[in-house]
Amino acid sequence: MSNKQPGNEAQRIRAAEAALAEVTPGMKLGLGTGRTAEAFIRVLGDRVRSGLDIVGVPTSERTARLAESEAIPLTTLDLEPILDLTVDGADEIGPGLTLVKGGGGALLREKMVAAASRRMLVAADESKLVDVIGTFPLPIEVVPFGLAATKKAIEERAGRLGLSGLISLRLEDGHAFLTDGGHHILDASFGRIPDPAALAVVLNSIPGVVEHGLFLGLASAAVIGRDDSVEWLFP
Ligand code: A5P
Repeated sequence: MSNKQPGNEAQRIRAAEAALAEVTPGMKLGLGTGRTAEAFIRVLGDRVRSGLDIVGVPTSERTARLAESEAIPLTTLDLEPILDLTVDGADEIGPGLTLVKGGGGALLREKMVAAASRRMLVAADESKLVDVIGTFPLPIEVVPFGLAATKKAIEERAGRLGLSGLISLRLEDGHAFLTDGGHHILDASFGRIPDPAALAVVLNSIPGVVEHGLFLGLASAAVIGRDDSVEWLFP
């Protein structure tokens, strides 16, 4: 289940191909989730079938299925708790490589895999670049128990930071969307998040919030696909 803008597939593929150039033999890779990550997994699969020796940790069941179909060997964070490089997409990329992620619903595993990696490379089309994050509704993963109480706490605590807007339960086929971890997602339309670090602290302190889509200080670089080129960005 995703909550996505259309973006540009040719730019996504260009960014994915540039990300592939960062992969060297023997690497342990975090494999992201979403269309750009999937473009990366496809080009990576071509190289693996030509003999490139790497192993991947998938950030979602969907990514695991694609990687398996590409004959990419997979492992887990339990067997390989330190990874060399994670390549993943993003829903928004703000100044300093502040990210919003989770449009595909995989933010918890994505954040754990990125945090376990020496480097996180974000690959994206140019539509993801923003001056201030928050236009894309912020995904917040919550436990199903006490959902209304958790939502109310988010509204109240975010309100104290001057943030307001619709907070809606993500649906799939008319039912509450379930993440790979068995949780729900609240999408918070704050519009602008001028102080993501303050919001992250608040969200992390609310019982019932499992994780949120603010990725702060995790990305080491971003490669942005444009129409005829790629642009590299650093924090
Ligand atoms: C998945 O949960 C997300 O974090 C994705 O990485 C993000 O939504 C970007 O996806 P696209 O590459 O499909 O835009």
